[in-house]
Amino acid sequence: MKAQILDKLRQATEAISGPRLSAELGVSRVTVWKHIQALKGHGYDIQASGRGYRLVNAPDALFGWEFPGRQDRVHHYPEVDSTMDIARKMARGGCPPFTVVVTDRQRRGRGRLSRRWFSDAGGLYFTVVLRPEIPPTLSPRVNLLVAVVLAGTLRRLYGVAAAVKWPNDVLVGDRKVAGILSEMEAEADRVTFIDVGIGVNVNNDPPPVESGAVSLQQLTGGSVARRALLAGFLDDFEARLHSAAFDGVIAEWKAHALTLNRRVKIVTLNDSVEGTAVDVDENGSLIVRLDDGALRTVLYGDCFHQ
Ligand code: BTN
Repeated sequence: MKAQILDKLRQATEAISGPRLSAELGVSRVTVWKHIQALKGHGYDIQASGRGYRLVNAPDALFGWEFPGRQDRVHHYPEVDSTMDIARKMARGGCPPFTVVVTDRQRRGRGRLSRRWFSDAGGLYFTVVLRPEIPPTLSPRVNLLVAVVLAGTLRRLYGVAAAVKWPNDVLVGDRKVAGILSEMEAEADRVTFIDVGIGVNVNNDPPPVESGAVSLQQLTGGSVARRALLAGFLDDFEARLHSAAFDGVIAEWKAHALTLNRRVKIVTLNDSVEGTAVDVDENGSLIVRLDDGALRTVLYGDCFHQ
């Protein structure tokens, strides 16, 4: 109901009376009034006058009702430890595919390789539950696809030169604007779910320890609406999943990759490899030409462009 009330208020050129809202939405005036009070409590500036209600200002909020058509699948929390934990519980509990858990802040945001992901207010932090009908071996392609789609959304909405770094960081220039972490549960031959967690530096100041990081606000010189970014990405991603999602992912990733033909250092938990990144194979692994000319296939790790 909140989505519908907001929709009416946003479309209106003048105040709309309570009786008109209640007639058009098919609910009682008391119900309309209750929802308007609740919206005000959530930071919406709705003015009531003798002529009716007028939406003066709306916060950059990520409540489910801000995503028409998805409101039952977008679950917003003001603050959580990590959206990954909530998404995993929901996925194990059988939630539908494309369920989204989004928060304004994380107390224990997680990055790849057990690192911390700083999650102050102003950034965008969310996890999408996917249930692709693929064998577990194809799961790295999902991460590459997410990175490619997110980079495309950032180019489309903000005109920034977003590109991808192996395995699935999104950079502008040489600075990281978004990171992707995924967790999978699978049976022997079939994925049960993949939770894709995405953190985007939007209006938050990336912490000084993350020296190679940048926010969209820094890149565009103005505050960026997280709601429009999340809606834009979900639209792009869902459209892509409904098309022949995994065909051509690797080629597309390569077309937007900053990592290929560069000197790289790949650090895994107990190893490190240095050389020139020459290719990405069908599994999403990076092929590195070592200094002695030998080729090494790297499945997982942290990549540093040298
Ligand atoms: C990385 O680059 O290391 C991946 C960072 C992923 C961060 C996101 S924020 C939303 C989701 N919840 C988490 O705890 N982590 C991911």
